[in-house]
Amino acid sequence: MSSSDGPEQSQQPSATAEEEQLTNQFAQVTLEQFIHLDDQQKALVPKARRKKLERLMKEQERKEQKAKERAQAVEAERMLKLEESKNIQIQEDPSLPPATLIKIRDTKQYLDQRVAVQGWVHHLREDGKKLLFIELRDGTGFLQCVLSDILCQTYDALTLHREATVLLKGTLTSDERAKGSFPGIELRVDYWKLIGPSPSEIENILTHESNPDILLNNRHLVIRGTRTSTILKLRSIITQCFREHFFDRGYVEVFPPTIVQTQCEGGSTLFQLDYFGEPAYLTQSSQMYLETAIAAVGDCFCILPSYRAEKSSTRRHLAEFHHIEAECPFIQFEDLLLKIEDLVSDVMKRVMDKASDLVLSLNPNIRVPKRPFRRMTYEDAIRYCQENNIYKDEATKMHFEFGDDIPELPERKMTDQINEPIFLIRFPVSLKSFYMKKCQDNPKLTESVDLLLPGVGEIVGGSMRIDNLDELLEAYKREKMDPSPYYWFTDQRKYGSAPHGGYGLGLERFCCYLLGLYHVRDVCLYPRYKDRCKP
Ligand code: 4AD
Repeated sequence: MSSSDGPEQSQQPSATAEEEQLTNQFAQVTLEQFIHLDDQQKALVPKARRKKLERLMKEQERKEQKAKERAQAVEAERMLKLEESKNIQIQEDPSLPPATLIKIRDTKQYLDQRVAVQGWVHHLREDGKKLLFIELRDGTGFLQCVLSDILCQTYDALTLHREATVLLKGTLTSDERAKGSFPGIELRVDYWKLIGPSPSEIENILTHESNPDILLNNRHLVIRGTRTSTILKLRSIITQCFREHFFDRGYVEVFPPTIVQTQCEGGSTLFQLDYFGEPAYLTQSSQMYLETAIAAVGDCFCILPSYRAEKSSTRRHLAEFHHIEAECPFIQFEDLLLKIEDLVSDVMKRVMDKASDLVLSLNPNIRVPKRPFRRMTYEDAIRYCQENNIYKDEATKMHFEFGDDIPELPERKMTDQINEPIFLIRFPVSLKSFYMKKCQDNPKLTESVDLLLPGVGEIVGGSMRIDNLDELLEAYKREKMDPSPYYWFTDQRKYGSAPHGGYGLGLERFCCYLLGLYHVRDVCLYPRYKDRCKP
């Protein structure tokens, strides 16, 4: 506060009015403000108030000094204890039975037995000076472990922090208070060893206030958290279920390259690279290679990364995503739809059979969708939008017309309103990729399908493929593509063509749907999208 503070006046106050105003102003001074006044300003505070504030100020100084001394004493005692703790050595008791080295997931099998576990300190809690509770994480589960007496007085125990790695030996004992993956069982530790320390700064790197960028920069630490590690495990289980689905139905897994010299889904989202002096791209889809593989192995699939240089980073777009793609020879469009329906419902059922507890912990509202899925032509979708106030342009209330691309947002609005899986079929040729087969009853439309799911939107894109050589050559021409790099793809129509079709499913989007997650980034170990390529 300065003596010039105060309400602005349109006229200069007289000397006495000014003094009076100042006196009034200083009569209201709080202790906090008084501490920061200089001597001249303090002299302006009315005497009685000044004396009171000076007394309060002294009292506060005394308190602060005492607190400082107390803190110093505590720190000195801590340092002394720490020094003394260096002399405390713990020995494993040779009379105890040998400890079996186990993973936490096997805890129940070893109840009442002496075991050894190794892992990371997930949580740490002291209970007085004689008890230390460690929640240990080893990737297979969480186990409550109790260290008592001398075990929690060593130098390593006193300087233990979250994320340190330890070896603990002891007896697995029933205790109804114990939490973790196996509630009611805890490890009573009789010997332990520090493997890798973790400094105290671990507590400040990530807090509840950390913004998304800090969390993403430190994703290597975030993934150790209960929720993120559960998501990563579920992604593994979900991927396993996809493989099991395909193998059970007789598909062969193939492994196409991801560095390519052709484009599958248009040039606008290609990542280009210099391949030993030649131009090449990161693949957008393995579809064209799968089309060649059906002649070798029949029904086939692959689970590989695909890349899209998406300029906008929405909650369902990544620059690198895992693409589950399948291709089948000698099928018709209806067979393709049934195969996609079977894939989605069967994999969801398999995941629930294997890990319903984990899924429900993240998504208590999960429901395996009923079959058959609703079918809707592109034309019906345009009509639906027109009739349900879903606009091409919200601002001008302009309606969609046949031939318009329905972008992500209105498409999601429609899917969320209908609130069940939708097979959106028969898109116009102009909106879809060059390789799609035209409908026999209408050459302006394609035998194409997008599967839309509530909350997530498009999860699968698929189609029947052009199997006629001339038609394919015509398509290259229409799309102004040079056919020469596609010679191998064209040959497929030359040497024993067959009606065939397939699809691609975005693994991250599927995981979001199943686990009730908002953002595709949440299911990636290290997400890649515009402006993020680290860690
Ligand atoms: O619809 P898309 O582009 O279809 C293809 O690539 C076909 N060649 C696939 C095929 O027939 N074998 O992509 C298929 C699916 C989408 O439905 C979506 O789930 C996912 O791949 N996807 C993405 N996921 C995350 N980020 C992106 N940028 C994605 N682009 C596509």
